[in-house]
Amino acid sequence: MAILTEAEDETKTQSPTPPENKPQSQSQSPFPFWFYFTLIVSLATLIFVSLSLFSTHNDPRSWFLSLPPPLRQHYSDGRTIKVQVNPGESPIEVFVAESGSIHAEKVLIVHGLGLSSYAFRETLKSLDSKGIHGVAIDLPGNGFSDKSRLVIGGGDDGDEIGFVARVKEVYGLIQEKGVFWAFDQMIETGDLPYEEIIRLQKSKRTSLKAIELGSEETARVLGQVIDTLNLAPVHLVLHDSALGLASNWVSENPQIVGSVTLVDSSVSPALPLWVLHIPLIREVLLGFTFGFGKLVSLRCSKEMALSEIEAHRILLRGRSGREAVVGSLKKLNHSFDIAQWSGSDEINGIPMQVIWSRGGSQEWDEEGRRVAEALPKAKFVTHSGSRWPQESKSGELAGYISEFVSLLPRSIKRVSEEPIPENVQKLLDEAKAGGDHHHHHHAHAGYTDAYGLGEELTT
Ligand SMILES: *[C@@H]1O[C@H](CO)[C@@H](O)[C@H](O)[C@H]1NC(C)=O
Repeated sequence: MAILTEAEDETKTQSPTPPENKPQSQSQSPFPFWFYFTLIVSLATLIFVSLSLFSTHNDPRSWFLSLPPPLRQHYSDGRTIKVQVNPGESPIEVFVAESGSIHAEKVLIVHGLGLSSYAFRETLKSLDSKGIHGVAIDLPGNGFSDKSRLVIGGGDDGDEIGFVARVKEVYGLIQEKGVFWAFDQMIETGDLPYEEIIRLQKSKRTSLKAIELGSEETARVLGQVIDTLNLAPVHLVLHDSALGLASNWVSENPQIVGSVTLVDSSVSPALPLWVLHIPLIREVLLGFTFGFGKLVSLRCSKEMALSEIEAHRILLRGRSGREAVVGSLKKLNHSFDIAQWSGSDEINGIPMQVIWSRGGSQEWDEEGRRVAEALPKAKFVTHSGSRWPQESKSGELAGYISEFVSLLPRSIKRVSEEPIPENVQKLLDEAKAGGDHHHHHHAHAGYTDAYGLGEELTT
């Protein structure tokens, strides 16, 4: 009873002095806050759980498991190489498919934008049967290579992240700090630790950034792949837009380029990738086999089977590949001049071949003539396929490549002219010293062969 009267007293005394009521209600605010906080946590949990249920295809593992068998086969036949694309960034994985003996002439195939090494799997097989060591890479942003990288720190783009991402962030923070963390802070300081929350969110925020490939990045990728796989001196095969991407690397490294073969090369890719920039159209084109198939048959190849087109669509679309490819498209050097490039002192001495479609459009025939005129010293041959000939005409293509490569002086000679590294010279001397000749040769064969000296050693 005493309590009741006291309460009554309080309400009575409150009425004449309403201003006193305000600070009281503010000190009570932790309780409604606590209620809403719990509600938000429960909601966030619910949203988070349902999100992870619906977005299973976004993680690489389940994406891989959803691939059609030929693509999975291609992946398991190849390997990945760590490559540092930009200084100061963590290395990314680049996928390569290989065939043939490592003692043969080495051919490195670089696909155009929107394609991948998968398109050249038959060409690699044909090259192998002709005694060529073929390697096809997936440029970063394409095929099975990394297409995006994790950026930590986020920066000031806080407004750009969507509601769902924000809920995930807050949820993560609660998971880490515990549900009572913000509550405790509030009782201590009387306010929510907004600054602390924002600081923590920013430091923990990770976002996926598409890897956009320009000629500088491509140069680093090519250099490191050739180094890692010991492909120098290398015969380059540049298909489609790969010419513009690789041209700078060739100019900078003519001493390790055995030859360059251009396959229907142009600055702009055959696949009109710019349409993948347009909302709605891109969803339709990449979302359905029918739309993408139309695009391919219109511009790239009329001879491809539906299953092959479908494989390319899946590879292009998967793991935010569209963003990467559209980003790389923007970086292409549209003022690239093939005559100027090939006429430079560095490129002048490199043997060149042009393989061009003979059944293409009139426009493409003219482009071929233009390229032939720009490269007066190059060998010019035509194939019966379209701008993407590598799948339907793989044998024809591999025939031209192997014929050209094997008519050139053996690559070994190019390398022998250079001074032999000290450690290799030592091995050679040891081997020549006789005695345990066989043993030495056997033990170091791989090493010396890497420098193209294996044959001299056996004689
Ligand atoms: C673009 O191409 C032009 C003409 O070939 C060349 O002079 C220029 O250096 C290229 N730019 C880049 C960034 O490679």
